[in-house]
Amino acid sequence: MGYGVFNCLYQFRFMSLRKAVKALLEALILSERIKPSQDAKRRAFKKYSLDGGIERFATAVFYSVLRKLGIYDEKIREITGVKNVYLLDETLRNALRLSIELLKFRSLSNKQKKLVRSILAGEIRTRSHPYASMFFWEVWDDIKNIDFTPKNREEELVYRYYVSRFYVRKLVELIGWEEAEAYLKKINEVPPISLRVNTLRATPEEIRKEIVRLEFEVEQSTRVPVVLRVRGSLDLDRFKPFREGKVFVQEEAGAVASLVLDPRPGEVVVDLAAAPGGKTVHLAELMEGKGKIYAVDIDEKRMERLKELVKRAGFRNVEPVVMDGREAPEEIGEGVADRVLLDAPCTSSGTVQRNPELRWRIREESDILEFVELQRELMEAGWRLLKPGGRML
Ligand SMILES: C[S@@+](CC[C@H](N)C(=O)[O-])C[C@H]1O[C@@H](n2cnc3c(N)ncnc32)[C@H](O)[C@@H]1O
Repeated sequence: MGYGVFNCLYQFRFMSLRKAVKALLEALILSERIKPSQDAKRRAFKKYSLDGGIERFATAVFYSVLRKLGIYDEKIREITGVKNVYLLDETLRNALRLSIELLKFRSLSNKQKKLVRSILAGEIRTRSHPYASMFFWEVWDDIKNIDFTPKNREEELVYRYYVSRFYVRKLVELIGWEEAEAYLKKINEVPPISLRVNTLRATPEEIRKEIVRLEFEVEQSTRVPVVLRVRGSLDLDRFKPFREGKVFVQEEAGAVASLVLDPRPGEVVVDLAAAPGGKTVHLAELMEGKGKIYAVDIDEKRMERLKELVKRAGFRNVEPVVMDGREAPEEIGEGVADRVLLDAPCTSSGTVQRNPELRWRIREESDILEFVELQRELMEAGWRLLKPGGRML
């Protein structure tokens, strides 16, 4: 397996290492509850006031663990004999994951290794149970001895690109070994930050200049010119155009959907799986805030994010409706919509580059078939919502 840029720990003092290990453990525990994982990391790192070099190191470690989660859990299953790692205590589980990363993939001195072991054991004792902590001491040497040598071509890809065996098998079956490997390589590259410009408030050129002024590399999409891609760690919370609703985080492929649907000012549009609202605010922008958008989603929490986004964008023509989209024709009415956008729930496999832990949640065929059924039912609801001659994407 490859080594990250921030591989070496020697440069950090013990105090910094202590803070980093505690923050990392907390971030990993939180990331099981808070999505996206970036928010979990931000919250934990803030609590332990990580900054500078140690923050960059800890960030690299955090994402590295998430990327390799399934592989680490397989090893934890072997070490503990517990088939489902989620039956283990959460602090112990995440301490084991973190230990594998630090011991096997980062250069630690013996003194540092001892420190990591005692910090993690202490955390387990405080957060959970002395027995769990004792168990952790017992398996420490097993962690050191974990073997990551691949036994066949499939395993080689699993270890090199951090994906499940199912994922590799499925990819190879669909596109063959070579293309599968090229794809896997790509999803492990750090993606740029993709921003869509709100053309009611700014021009792409204006935003591009501001990004260049902050000394970041930026490139305008040729296929979707309202999209700009920024390299490096632009802090969006401090980026004025972001705070002012002049730009939103959105990929080229996401931005193109609303453009293709092409809603007009004054129309009635139903966004049938709308949260967290990236496409809804784009639709509102293309409609110049005139007409009506029913933004439907079944997930209340995600809908809160949609509401925040709509507020930041300043649109008043969006009506958020928390409900099952399949019931929308009964609630909103049949034959009322000029356009329907159905960004249906799916495996989200297209976003694995950005969400490193997601690859471990894409499972066997049964999950996929369930999505297919739901997607079909949502599409049927979409047709019923449409006026004659209306358009659904
Ligand atoms: C691909 S995401 C939508 C992303 C969104 N269009 C955007 O651009 O930000 C799919 C959404 O479908 C929602 N969903 C799942 N089942 C649903 C259902 N039965 N009715 C409505 N929404 C559903 C999920 O909560 C999720 O927010």
